[in-house]
Amino acid sequence: NEGALWGGRFQGGPADALAALSKSTHFDWRLALYDIAGSKAHARVLNTAGLLDAAELEGMLAALDLLEADVKSGAYLPAESDEDVHGSLERGLIERAGTALGGKLRAGRSRNDQIATLGRMYLRDHAKIIAAGVLSVVDALVAQAKAHHGVAMPGRTHLQHAQPVLLSHHLLAHAWALLRDVQRLVDWDKRAAVSPYGSGALAGSSLGLDPNAVAADLGFDSAAWNSIDGTASRDVFAEFAWVAAMIGVDLSRISEEVILWATKEFSFITLHDSYSTGSSIMPQKKNPDVAELARGKAGRLIGDLTGLLATLKGLPLAYNRDLQEDKEPVFDAADTLELLLPAVSGMMATLVFNTERMEALAPQGFALATDIAEWLVRQGVPFRDAHELSGAAVKVAETRGVELWDLTDEEYAGISAHLTPEVRTVLSTEGSLNSRSAQGGTAPSAVLAQLAALEGQLGEV
Ligand code: ARG
Repeated sequence: NEGALWGGRFQGGPADALAALSKSTHFDWRLALYDIAGSKAHARVLNTAGLLDAAELEGMLAALDLLEADVKSGAYLPAESDEDVHGSLERGLIERAGTALGGKLRAGRSRNDQIATLGRMYLRDHAKIIAAGVLSVVDALVAQAKAHHGVAMPGRTHLQHAQPVLLSHHLLAHAWALLRDVQRLVDWDKRAAVSPYGSGALAGSSLGLDPNAVAADLGFDSAAWNSIDGTASRDVFAEFAWVAAMIGVDLSRISEEVILWATKEFSFITLHDSYSTGSSIMPQKKNPDVAELARGKAGRLIGDLTGLLATLKGLPLAYNRDLQEDKEPVFDAADTLELLLPAVSGMMATLVFNTERMEALAPQGFALATDIAEWLVRQGVPFRDAHELSGAAVKVAETRGVELWDLTDEEYAGISAHLTPEVRTVLSTEGSLNSRSAQGGTAPSAVLAQLAALEGQLGEV
């Protein structure tokens, strides 16, 4: 079998059940071009080490170029009998270079150092695609925040009205979380930029090959300092899966709000027709399926992470075949986000906000009670007492079925002599918002400063 990389000490081939279990071409074939790039880099260090002469190197690279073109065009595909991407590509190389030359390439490397390297190459490329996708969601949030700057909405804790906030402040809260996810991907890349190539099966190579030359050739910053770590560790994969899961969770939290806000009861937003779906039976329905799929896929991304961690737990050093299970979770995580992010950014960019309703609801539900308490503090009342007095005002308003600004001067005076008519200066959404002007607050001036800071950080990633 030409696609087999082992067999010398065996009599007969593997059982069909083992071959079927062992096979990974259906998911590792996506690493084929990375494998070929690794093979070219490896051929060059074999040449430097005197193990391929100049003509052999030229012949090897030419055959690898042919193979690369055929893989790209789809003319070369793994055969049913190929176990994995590495074996299949060796078969393809030998078909193009002949056994004498093609059979020389495997010297000094193992599938163990190859696969650990190729996975990093794949994930580094896809981390960039994912980061760009996350940034487009951030851009949509920033654009909506700018377009609606100054619009107030009910800020919530425990999903109850808490204090008025600016819609832009709320939207940017999601943007900061996503910006940190992008920063995490950038930071992750420092650890991913270490090449395991040259680690061999586990102990390194005896053939005088330069791992740092291969690393540089493949775009890595450096080669691994420990060949056992190089072949056996997958924390870089798990960290990628964690960041992917965190992005999924952050998108899910945005999505949950989109779903709530689009309900009749909230009526805060209208989804664009092109980012909503209908019902097969109820003609009136307009459903937030993008947001629901985002919320659902967060579960899948968490599963990718936890499945991978469970695979790694308890594995002795160095390589174990269990590690073949590292690929599908991270590939699935990348695929999932690359599918999801454009839909979420499109949905966010096209949301229409019912700003009148948001503004009308912003101060309701006694959301200005904290403003009364803090106003009292500014008049010299200890906060403990101020909290009690403001609470007493809420009680009166609640009993009468009115809002805080509907209470009369006499009613305020009846609660405390400290509650003079001047308290009305803070009994408005505008007064409440404007008073929270320190860094990080929801005052319009503070939100503009926040926007500048966010855009500054966006410029750095
Ligand atoms: N296909 C394997 C993987 O994905 C690489 C091959 C290593 N196999 C081996 N028997 N050493 O991890």
